Amino acid sequence: MVSLNVRRSLLKRRIMDLITSMAILPLLFGCVGVFSLFKLLQQMRMKAYLQDAVVVITGATSGLGKECAKVFHATGAKLVLCGRNREALEELTRDLATPRATKVQTYKPYMVTFDLADPDSVVGATAQILQCFGYVDILVNNAGISYRGTITDTTMDVDKRVMETNYFGPVALTKALLPSMIERRQGHIVVISSIQGKISIPFRSAYAASKHATQAFFDCLRAEMEEHEIEVTVISPGYIHTNLSLNAITADGSRYGVMDETTVQGRSPTEVAQDVLTAVGKKKKDVILADLLPYLAIYLRTLAPGLFFSLMAARARKERKSKDS
Ligand SMILES: NC(=O)c1ccc[n+]([C@@H]2O[C@H](COP(=O)([O-])OP(=O)(O)OC[C@H]3O[C@@H](n4cnc5c(N)ncnc54)[C@H](OP(=O)(O)O)[C@@H]3O)[C@@H](O)[C@H]2O)c1
Repeated sequence: MVSLNVRRSLLKRRIMDLITSMAILPLLFGCVGVFSLFKLLQQMRMKAYLQDAVVVITGATSGLGKECAKVFHATGAKLVLCGRNREALEELTRDLATPRATKVQTYKPYMVTFDLADPDSVVGATAQILQCFGYVDILVNNAGISYRGTITDTTMDVDKRVMETNYFGPVALTKALLPSMIERRQGHIVVISSIQGKISIPFRSAYAASKHATQAFFDCLRAEMEEHEIEVTVISPGYIHTNLSLNAITADGSRYGVMDETTVQGRSPTEVAQDVLTAVGKKKKDVILADLLPYLAIYLRTLAPGLFFSLMAARARKERKSKDS
């Protein structure tokens, strides 16, 4: 009698197992199918958004801006490339014109040269930018310079130069292009900020201040532009392997000219440019492109500011000591 009961319960369990496994498999395939469909639709929406869009990229002569130009061009965007170095822009344009095996219709980019740190030049450049295709869909405020120095040694001219390039320049260009976007009820402002727009590290005061100001301004802009259906994306990358540290300026305004180890170990600009493209295509509002450590630092600054400040003071002591030795 006991063995009959055991057999019955075993049979019952096997039947239950069979039913469960039969139900789980279709459910699993169903989930994977829905997820794949969702991804496919997202990709199609992104492509449709970027294909034929008029995209202005500042700082396209080098580093991240140059790579952004390549990925946006490959998706079929109509580009206006900006920078100060005409030759570098021409070289990039020639490179983009090289025929590639792609089904996407691509366009020859326009070039506009101007100095973002010069307000008059920004006004003139805006007129030229608008003449290229008649309107702008997406503005990528990418150009920027970095800085190395102690606050006590740094002249106000240097603080202003960094602020003019990284903050006032992008703000002036954005303000100049906004009226035409508002009129069309269509536009997207993208800004390449930095992890240093969220946290400040010692000996980078002017840079961190310019990026914090950038974050604040474009956060306000996002809220104000909602009624005009204009998107705002702030992207904050960690270290990228570009010439940023080489081109950085020091306390007296001279070129730093050193490729920092942190920069060498940074992400490839091609990879970051791909992430920028995805963030823009998905109309993300605020994106951090970094490893775990910078993420933790950002949370630490908010949740345990005392500890964060102590760590930064220790970092300053360590850097000063290694410079003195
Ligand atoms: N590399 C990193 O680790 C890192 C990390 C976080 C954020 N970022 C940000 O990424 C952006 C791109 O920097 P990158 O790393 O690609 O550095 P990069 O290779 O030095 O490129 C900087 C670009 O900005 C342009 N630029 C500089 N000053 C300008 C001015 N006054 N007027 C017009 N254009 C100017 C330069 O063009 P011309 O010299 O031809 O004018 C160049 O194309 C910057 O906003 C930077 O703050 C970089």
